[in-house]
Amino acid sequence: MKILLLGAAGQIGHALTATMPEGCDLLALDRNALDITDTAALTALIASEQAQAAINAAAYTDVDAAEAHEEEAFGINAEAPRAIAAACARSGTRLVHISTDYVFDGTATTPYRPDARPAPLGVYGRSKLAGEQAVQEYPDALLIRSAWVYDAHGRNFLDTMLRLMTERNEIRVVADQTGTPTHAKSLARAIWALLDAEARGIHHFTDAGKTSWHGFAKAIEAKARELGLLDGCTVTPTTAADYGAPAPRPAFSVLDCRGTWPITGTPQDWNDELDGVLAERKAAA
Ligand SMILES: NC(=O)c1ccc[n+]([C@@H]2O[C@H](COP(=O)([O-])OP(=O)(O)OC[C@H]3O[C@@H](n4cnc5c(N)ncnc54)[C@H](OP(=O)(O)O)[C@@H]3O)[C@@H](O)[C@H]2O)c1
Repeated sequence: MKILLLGAAGQIGHALTATMPEGCDLLALDRNALDITDTAALTALIASEQAQAAINAAAYTDVDAAEAHEEEAFGINAEAPRAIAAACARSGTRLVHISTDYVFDGTATTPYRPDARPAPLGVYGRSKLAGEQAVQEYPDALLIRSAWVYDAHGRNFLDTMLRLMTERNEIRVVADQTGTPTHAKSLARAIWALLDAEARGIHHFTDAGKTSWHGFAKAIEAKARELGLLDGCTVTPTTAADYGAPAPRPAFSVLDCRGTWPITGTPQDWNDELDGVLAERKAAA
């Protein structure tokens, strides 16, 4: 099966390449090979490749920077997916698009189901929601929302925490936002399973369980120290208000993924996935 992967150099792009099923003919394109905001190049490529499916893993993902770069964020996260979806519909290519828990406002107290009402708080979430709406104009599209994605490599919360914990004796981490840390490779395997099952519509997928950013950081510190990846660092809880990040984030963005499990299998708890990722990080050190 021939698959186009857009945004191949990102962390989910990497994870998709690393977990690609056997027999898959993957054309993995990074931003240099295809800028998804170049509508003419994108349309020509999708028409000429005649792939069975295209996975859009490209996005403007800097949540804080998006507040000051709204036009760029909407160009990449909303206008480009609209063009990708239109080109895929014309050439009979199935589209897989990735979205985020940040389309929700975080006022819920139970996990968000795929049909819950989105109400994003910041520019990033609004741009991702606009992308979802553009893609959903094509009923065959598969839209997968995930959350708090990290991997052994690449820019992500784990990498930032390990760096800060090495440089400092104490770090302050937000304790009043709750979500589910998700290993990029669990998500990648789920995407391949959903594609294989010819799923369509909105699906939620994260690892199992929930915690705060502070809980995630505490687990990283304890496990990394045990593996000898750092000497030790005090992880102090703070509030989102005191931390003062430029972009507002949902206080609670746990996704209800149960509808996806019959296809993907039940995911491992985020704590168990973190063990595996840190072991991979240690092996590479
Ligand atoms: N990371 C998370 O916690 C998380 C959570 C939920 C959902 N998601 C979604 O998952 C998807 C992938 O995220 P990720 O974590 O893999 O992010 P990432 O590591 O930042 O990867 C995004 C990739 O998109 C590329 N890109 C940006 N603009 C592009 C353009 N105009 N043309 C082509 N490529 C472009 C980036 O290239 P450059 O590096 O050159 O900019 C980067 O390689 C996104 O849709 C994101 O919204 C992520």
